[in-house]
Amino acid sequence: MIEGSKVLLVDDNREIIDILTDFLTLNGCKIYKAFTGKEALELLSKSDLEIVILDVKLPDVNGISLIDSIKIKNPTIGVIMITGYHDPNLIVEAMKKGASDFLIKPFEFDKLILVMMRVVRERGLLIEKQKYLDTLEDKKKIELLNRELQKKIQELTTMYHISNKFNSLNILDDVYDRMIQIINEVMDGRDCRYYIVDNENKELMLYKELTNGNGGFNNRRREISDELMKEAHSTKRYYIKDDEVFLPLVIKGEYIGFVVVNSKGKNGRHRSNFSDSDIFFLKLVTEKASTQIENRMLYESLFEGVLHTLTSLITAINKRDLYTEDHCKRVTKTSLALGEMLKVDTYEKDVLRVVGPVHDVGKVGIPDAILLKPGKLTDGEYDVIKAHSVFGEEIMNRFEILSHEAKMIRHHHERYDGRGYPDGITGIEIPRGARIIAVCDTYDAMVTNRPYRNALTKEEAVREIIRCKGSQFDPDIADCFADMVKNV
Ligand SMILES: [Fe+2]
Repeated sequence: MIEGSKVLLVDDNREIIDILTDFLTLNGCKIYKAFTGKEALELLSKSDLEIVILDVKLPDVNGISLIDSIKIKNPTIGVIMITGYHDPNLIVEAMKKGASDFLIKPFEFDKLILVMMRVVRERGLLIEKQKYLDTLEDKKKIELLNRELQKKIQELTTMYHISNKFNSLNILDDVYDRMIQIINEVMDGRDCRYYIVDNENKELMLYKELTNGNGGFNNRRREISDELMKEAHSTKRYYIKDDEVFLPLVIKGEYIGFVVVNSKGKNGRHRSNFSDSDIFFLKLVTEKASTQIENRMLYESLFEGVLHTLTSLITAINKRDLYTEDHCKRVTKTSLALGEMLKVDTYEKDVLRVVGPVHDVGKVGIPDAILLKPGKLTDGEYDVIKAHSVFGEEIMNRFEILSHEAKMIRHHHERYDGRGYPDGITGIEIPRGARIIAVCDTYDAMVTNRPYRNALTKEEAVREIIRCKGSQFDPDIADCFADMVKNV
């Protein structure tokens, strides 16, 4: 049973080494010899040993102190101690360190064989156990890696979700609404509130909330503590107090508001505290929201500048042609009302609000002799007038942010059947806003007195609109307009 075992003999007594070598070789063991502790350690690092027969008293070290090194190298190596002195303390110490047995010199070979057989058997069991533990350890490692991988995928998905939600924001969507919705989703339904900073009163004012109906919340105004500002200004950039985490929205270094997330979740259930990844996602959301708001502010200031310039142009036209001013105001008003009935979205409504007053801005390029001509226009003159829609588009295109509005101005004289100008496009190819303006523009022209003809009555004008539905006008829009006018 001990045949084939690789055995290291460690003893400074050469005679004992020789006797043991002869005996064990006869029993089929492969023998390695060391006369000092140092030699023993060298052999251990080079050879794949199975049993060490170790003398307690070595010239350089205490044999017992070698047990640790042997077990570190390979915990399955069996260690049999041999000594000339019977000292129970030594035996206990050696056993504690992991020795398998202790033989007192001189010992009988039979006894050694029995001990070695036991060591070999124990070693086999230890190897089996180690294999099992390794497999278990590998399984645990794989499970851990899988869990980490799942977590990373989840994190990436959430980051993508957050970015996507912000990137898909329309210019007229409410950033604060979107922000607290995203937080509510990412934080698994925890209550979320957004407060505006009131620097004058050193208070936070509640602006938006999403609370899953937990209710009972009276903190519409809350004090800005020094601690909150200190933590928010620190590198941490968040502050946790009781069940709440506070994160600032910072624009150009100014703290404009705070997102406050409560640990209270769905059905009033308290969730665990905020983890590092919770804080990471909350920071991502507040940073994205801050950037959106900053861009929005920049856009609005640009937009206002552009509208101011366009208004100046309209004033210039109005000075030449008084009809245009009131006409544009009425067209804007009716277009917005019609848009409302047609349930256009907020963005389209805002485009109508911009386009309405300036839809004829291109007339700025029409000579007075034609624009203000009291009589009927010649075909050539009419062609010049028709150019106002393209000229209007060119003016709007100077302002990059008004490209959508520019298209609508280009097409406000297109006809549903394709016989309009400037492009002769048909049906839904014509932007819906342009189709709305076309109806309101024509109606207003019909019910207004002009130098060359009298105004039609409301009823006559509506009849005309209905008569031209499907040819000049979008039939649905024309019907809706007729309903609207009838109900005024
Ligand atoms: Fe026009």
